Amino acid sequence: MQIDTSKLSPQESYRLISGIVVPRPIAWITTQSPEGVVNLAPFSCFTFVSNSPLMLGINIGRKAGIEKDTARNIRSLSEFVINIADWSMVELVHASAVEYESHESEVEALGLATKPSNTVRPPRLAMAPISLECRLHSVTPYGNTGAEFFVGQVTQAHLSDDLYKDGHIDTRSLQPVCRIAGPNYANLGEIRQLIPVAQTPKTIIEG
Ligand SMILES: Cc1cc2nc3c(=O)[nH]c(=O)nc-3n(C[C@H](O)[C@H](O)[C@H](O)COP(=O)(O)O)c2cc1C
Repeated sequence: MQIDTSKLSPQESYRLISGIVVPRPIAWITTQSPEGVVNLAPFSCFTFVSNSPLMLGINIGRKAGIEKDTARNIRSLSEFVINIADWSMVELVHASAVEYESHESEVEALGLATKPSNTVRPPRLAMAPISLECRLHSVTPYGNTGAEFFVGQVTQAHLSDDLYKDGHIDTRSLQPVCRIAGPNYANLGEIRQLIPVAQTPKTIIEG
């Protein structure tokens, strides 16, 4: 089967690509409005874009052309926190995507505790095993639906002690939430450890 992607509507393109770019990690973002309301929402169009300095990117779309609270808050304060949930929190992650009015806090509605951040004003989620405090670096628009790619520089990382061993994250302990298409989520299946590429003989790679 072949698809002429130029003929797809924005919704059809979204359905196609969100089933292809899988699994996606989830940035569970806390922001703060100018009035001090703490907002929480999940974003799976999420990746890292630089390791020095450490920078992360998330793509934020629009709802019927209207900017989401997260985008508005990041733009106004230039600060946000990317929290990483573990598998036990998947239902809360999902519930935090429900649309609330700008003056309502998802954190309060879901009864989630926060802790102050060290370098930015929005607080971090107390329950999250990882929280990354970010300062806005840039906002770049893409396409014709109003989507924008927000890049933030990480200014402080909070990690649960049991997750960080010898400079590495213990992924099995983290049990990250993976987003697949629609309201479907997965956890990690089998993890296979192979020989590092630099030490792998070319004969194995070339078959
Ligand atoms: C798991 C999950 C991942 C999501 N990822 C994104 C995303 O990458 N970009 C986006 O614009 N919306 C995404 N959404 C939708 C937003 O979370 C949703 O629009 C939310 O209401 C935005 O909240 P806000 O207006 O408080 O910022 C996602 C929803 C879920 C459930």
